[in-house]
Amino acid sequence: MADRLNVREGGQPIYDIVIGKDFENLGEELKKLELQERRVCIVTETTVGPLYEKAVSAVFEKMAKEVHVFTFPAGEGSKNLDTVKNLYLFLIEHHFDRKDLLIALGGGVTGDLTGYTAATYLRGIDFVQIPTSLLAQVDSSVGGKTGVDFDGYKNMVGAFYQPKLVYIATDTLKTLTEKEFLSGMGEVIKYGIIKDEEFFCYLENHAEDIMKKDPESLAYIIKVSCDTKRKVVEADFKEQGERALLNFGHTLGHAIEKYVYEDRLHGECVAMGMAGAAYISFKKHYISREEMNRMIDLILRYQLPVKENRIDMDKVIQTTYSDKKMEAGKIKFIVVKKIGHAEIDKSVDWMEMKQALWCIMEGKYNER
Ligand SMILES: NC(=O)c1ccc[n+]([C@@H]2O[C@H](COP(=O)([O-])OP(=O)(O)OC[C@H]3O[C@@H](n4cnc5c(N)ncnc54)[C@H](O)[C@@H]3O)[C@@H](O)[C@H]2O)c1
Ligand SMILES: [Zn+2]
Repeated sequence: MADRLNVREGGQPIYDIVIGKDFENLGEELKKLELQERRVCIVTETTVGPLYEKAVSAVFEKMAKEVHVFTFPAGEGSKNLDTVKNLYLFLIEHHFDRKDLLIALGGGVTGDLTGYTAATYLRGIDFVQIPTSLLAQVDSSVGGKTGVDFDGYKNMVGAFYQPKLVYIATDTLKTLTEKEFLSGMGEVIKYGIIKDEEFFCYLENHAEDIMKKDPESLAYIIKVSCDTKRKVVEADFKEQGERALLNFGHTLGHAIEKYVYEDRLHGECVAMGMAGAAYISFKKHYISREEMNRMIDLILRYQLPVKENRIDMDKVIQTTYSDKKMEAGKIKFIVVKKIGHAEIDKSVDWMEMKQALWCIMEGKYNER
């Protein structure tokens, strides 16, 4: 039996997140979408397509009117309006109309791009998320944010648009590179820190199973992560308050990501940002030194970095102040009040961030 979560908006159920091992239950889940009279376009990319497109197509072939596949080059470089345009053209050429359906098969890039196309093609057609990276399974496929980069600016163009179903097959993580997998773990750890002490302890105690990709442990951490994101998003669909907590580790993390070299993945930068935010929380006497060290130890347990000496301090600080999540000139920094409980804090100033960045640069958090 697959695990299931239901996402609601204003009390109304809007879609399910189904977590299974493989694609065995996908057909059953699709039944309620009544595909007999609907065309389906599977949108995927050049890395994920060759691995999973056949298995997914086979399920749709049995139930949909027509199945088409649109493949774009893998990577963030494709998350732009040119790819959206090519996809619009593909849909027009294949006579897709309002009742037809898009399927996002891939990581966060595929999900964001497909979701945005679905939100805008003919003023909105249905779409289903089949996320295949850990980051997409625990973060980007849930919450309804879709969009693309524009002229080098990340996620500049987008829409809030909900899928009809999110179907997760944990087995797909077996083909993900170790670096990508661990990067996704950065977001998983984040959920423990901001919302769920018990989950934090689980991550401390089950690191070995998770690192071995034991299917049951993976299903569990994905379920808890999705459920936490679901709860936060449900409380704040349009990102006005509570949802900001998901930004834990991201204020410094994003800025580092922008200026540190291509070799650092998002979750790795978030890991450093979380270590920095833990340090700031400690310096502000919100948490003890032991709690700060527990967080840093957990990050290290999952082979994520807390040290990066190639940081251009001034550029990083400047970037945090130009972040779109500012309010009245103050940064909405997310601090930890205790493990499992984060809050927005508008009193964090540039000196405190600078000190945190020094810790990250030296990889030492106990000497200041
Ligand atoms: N919408 C949101 O709320 C939200 C939240 C967080 C991140 N994002 C976006 O998500 C994107 C990052 O997501 P990502 O890390 O999944 O990027 P991605 O889609 O580029 O996937 C990462 C890499 O893993 C490969 N891959 C994916 N699944 C695989 C599998 N099962 N086996 C082998 N290789 C696989 C991809 O080809 C790619 O090379 C960014 O564009 C980011 O802005 C969106
Ligand atoms: Zn993130």
